[in-house]
Amino acid sequence: MPEEASDVVVIGAGLIGLSVAWRLAADGIQVTVCDPTPGTQTSSVAAGMLAPVTEVEYGEDALLALNLASVAAWPGFAAELEALTGLPAGLNRTGTLSVAYDVDDAAAIRRLAEYQRRLGLEVEELTGRETRKREPLLAAGVTAGVWVAGDHSVDNRQTVAALLRATELVGVRLIRQRVTRILTTGTTATGVQLESGDTITAPQIVAAAGPWSAQLEGIPQELLPPVRPLKGEILRLRVPEAYRPALHHTVRATARGFAVYLVPRPGGELVVGATTSELGYDTRVLAGGVFSLLRDARMILPITDELELVESVAGLRPATPDNAPILGPSGIDGLLWATGHYRNGVLLTPITAQVIAETVQTGAVPELAAPFLASRFSEHGQADGSAETVPKVAR
Ligand code: GLY
Repeated sequence: MPEEASDVVVIGAGLIGLSVAWRLAADGIQVTVCDPTPGTQTSSVAAGMLAPVTEVEYGEDALLALNLASVAAWPGFAAELEALTGLPAGLNRTGTLSVAYDVDDAAAIRRLAEYQRRLGLEVEELTGRETRKREPLLAAGVTAGVWVAGDHSVDNRQTVAALLRATELVGVRLIRQRVTRILTTGTTATGVQLESGDTITAPQIVAAAGPWSAQLEGIPQELLPPVRPLKGEILRLRVPEAYRPALHHTVRATARGFAVYLVPRPGGELVVGATTSELGYDTRVLAGGVFSLLRDARMILPITDELELVESVAGLRPATPDNAPILGPSGIDGLLWATGHYRNGVLLTPITAQVIAETVQTGAVPELAAPFLASRFSEHGQADGSAETVPKVAR
């Protein structure tokens, strides 16, 4: 069976794998990325919200710090990507409006606004009238809003296209095959085996296989990351010229207790998401999913009825037990995780690329990523969250 060699093999060509590969190859490291369908899975299904403040969850402070660092890194990341490729990176700096439909919904978003303020985050509470002033096509029944100036969105399909081009320009080798097995000698990873049976040897492997990360063979079961697929259905609607822009900002709504978000794109697309279901690797779009998204979207934005339904699609979020990503050492020398980004994969792309590229090159996990080591899930995980070290790959 043919055997090839590379300095680094990245498993997975989603936003995370591609951006890690781009960063490493731009620094002169020879990188091979393996994926049977580059850029087509979760990374292209997602709506592309960059919403660390709007989507903050009670008690997830360490994750918030990582999310905020990444939202701050997005403009530089996008500018660099555009300068290299000449393609749009897709960043839309619109701000986000959190809106409530009934009084219970209003109480929920006000409670969250109070928590956001306690965390030192910038939010502005609005009345129903003030909310509709910012978005005149919202339903007359919208009772309250919270304006978050620093939460934005990206057209993630544009980002994927730009990253595919960027990786090509910096000499990354893309192999359109699935990695079936991590090859090891003792407790050291030495390469990967592809579905064709071919192998690639490498002193460093980065597994960025999203919800498929726990399916890699060749390493002990107890070292596999606790990542599971969490299905999300999403709709893409087209706004007729006469109604554009239907929305000026991303709108994240609580509609009679249900969460729905509407993300406008400059070209007239409106992305509506997303359902959440534990159905394993099932990516069928179910009628109930489409129904609930449209029911909630039209409650908030009545002209939804007039928009063309262009696409309905389902993707798999890589969920983890604590909703935070798994970054860095795997317990196998030479194998790093860059996975488990759950609802925040698009948001966390720039910071993950930075953290993993630094870990590969210096052999140490940056402080910011210390709370996100895989060892936090193991019985003997490092209780202090201190960074483990890994062998480094020199340029
Ligand atoms: N971040 C949005 C979602 O996962 O649906």
